[in-house]
This record gives sequence, C-alpha cells and structure tokens, in this order.
Amino acid sequence: MLTVQNVTKRFGSFTALEDINLEFGKGVYGLLAPNGAGKTTLMKMIVTLLFPTKGRILCDGKEILSMGESYREKIGYLPQEFGYYRNDSPRQYLRYLGALKGLERRAAEVRIDGLLEKVGLADVKDKKMKKFSGGMVQRVGIAQALLGNPEILVLDEPTAGLDPKERARFRNLISEFSKDRTVILSTHIVSDIESVANRIVMLKDHSVYCDTDCSSLCGMMGGKVFECSVPQKDADSFEMSHLVISRREETGQTHFRFAQDGEKGLPPQAKPVQPDLEDVFLYIYRED
Ligand SMILES: Nc1ncnc2c1ncn2[C@@H]1O[C@H](COP(=O)(O)OP(=O)(O)OP(=O)(O)O)[C@@H](O)[C@H]1O
Ligand SMILES: [Mg+2]
Repeated sequence: MLTVQNVTKRFGSFTALEDINLEFGKGVYGLLAPNGAGKTTLMKMIVTLLFPTKGRILCDGKEILSMGESYREKIGYLPQEFGYYRNDSPRQYLRYLGALKGLERRAAEVRIDGLLEKVGLADVKDKKMKKFSGGMVQRVGIAQALLGNPEILVLDEPTAGLDPKERARFRNLISEFSKDRTVILSTHIVSDIESVANRIVMLKDHSVYCDTDCSSLCGMMGGKVFECSVPQKDADSFEMSHLVISRREETGQTHFRFAQDGEKGLPPQAKPVQPDLEDVFLYIYRED
C-alpha cells in the first residue's frame, strides 16, 4: 500500500501540487488530467526523483525516502521522456538495465525475451533502436519498466505514440500484469484508461479532484449529457452557447453532443445520452 500524505510540491514560488492525499492499493490507477496539471510531478515524487516540499509518501507505513534501495527495487518506472542509447538494440539495452538491477544473467535473458515478445518487438530485438519509430521506442520503455517484475509500476504517458493496435496490446499487458500489484499510469487520453483502470484519479487546480471508479464518475454526469441536430446555419451560435463535447457535420444539419446542468434552454429535439469518461473529462476541465 502506497500512501501519499498531505503532499505539497512547490517549484520556487509556484505551487504545482497542494495537499495531495491518495492511497494506492492493488490494481490499476489512472491519473487523468490535462497538460500541466502535475501528473509527472506526482509520479516523480512516488519514484523518489523529486521530493515533496511538505508531506510524505509511505510504502506499507514506512516513509519511502528512508527506505532507499529496498523501496527502489519494488519500483518499475517509465518516464515521460526516457533516455536510451541509440546504437543499442532493445536486447542490449535491457541486458544493461538488468545488470544494473542485479538480475541473474540467465534469468534476465529469459525475462527479456518474454517481455520483448509481449510488447511486440521480438522480430526487431537485435536491431539498433535509432531506426525505430516513436511507438517502437515507447514499447522498449514499457518493457524496461517491467524488467524487475516490480510490485509498483509507475508509467508516465505509456501510450504516447502508440497506434490503436498497440494501445490494445498495452491494455491487455497491463491487465495481466496488475494482478496483485499496483500500477499507476498517467494519461490525458481517456480511452486508454476507461477499460483498464480500476480507479481514476483526477487532478484539478493543483489538488485531487476525484478518486473513484469509472462508473461512479460517469454516474456524476447522469442527466447532463445530450445529443441533438440543429440546422447548419444555427450551428455556430449553438456551439457558442453550449458546452459542446463533439460536433459532426451531416447533410444540412450539424449534430452535437453537449453537456448542461438541468433542462433550462434545452432544445426540444435534444435527447439525453449515457455519459462516458470523455464527457466527464471535458466537463470537469471545461474552463482549463
Ligand atoms: N522543475 C520545474 N520547475 C518549475 N516548474 C515546473 C518544474 N516541473 C514542472 N513544473 C511545472 O509544474 C506544473 C506541473 O507540471 P507536470 O510536468 O507535473 O504536469 P503534467 O500533468 O505531467 O503535464 P503533461 O500532461 O504536459 O505531461 C507545470 O505548470 C510545470 O510547468
Ligand atoms: Mg507529464
């Protein structure tokens, strides 16, 4: 169990995070917030690359900063920007990291081959990474985070640059891996965590806005999301006066999905729809 207790992080006079309280047990936690909300800052404190200005982070009741190596060996981390040697192949790179982690050589070989298979890089495991696409490099990053079989896996924007097929593969990998472990992943791509996260943590105004499961979160928006079509000539003024979630042009008409509190001023043709996480995200961050 990882406990973030009254954590504030300041950079000079700028407060990035204020009085954060969170508990991470077993399961997948999705940290969902827009750019600049403090996701990376929080994750770096969890992996001890940054230190809280106030407050503390505990692992099973012990302060992580006092645990040193015994904490770090529990952790797998994919930084938002991860560094690697361009002339290395994925296998060489993972062997090197395995040696740093003190993994036994033969066991490391088996694990590396298994992981590269799982992230879909078995065919290119001996090719130099400088020839890789962004998504391929990202998958090497995911493999290195899993290398030490960590109890706590922290992934900062793991799906950045992945195509839909690879995103699906990633979700399966995380679901399989997360049994009996803690996985914390950040994203601003809603669909990445809708199906995989047991809990969703949203940050807003430097604080925790919510910490709940997806269906309760969508439940909060019940009765607030609608769809309707309006004549194209009225579409721009409709968009100006409503909180539009999506807009699609059709022949002669424009179809809107929008959110609003209550039914005041609701167009008569508007129909309520089942809210999804994307609606919640756009609603919560409507002024950000
Ligand atoms: N070393 C630093 N010095 C000063 N300000 C910083 C530093 N690191 C982060 N910040 C600021 O703290 C805020 C939170 O940044 P952070 O990188 O944690 O956001 P994020 O949620 O990860 O954003 P993104 O989605 O773009 O990755 C931002 O306003 C950022 O400018
Ligand atoms: Mg970030």
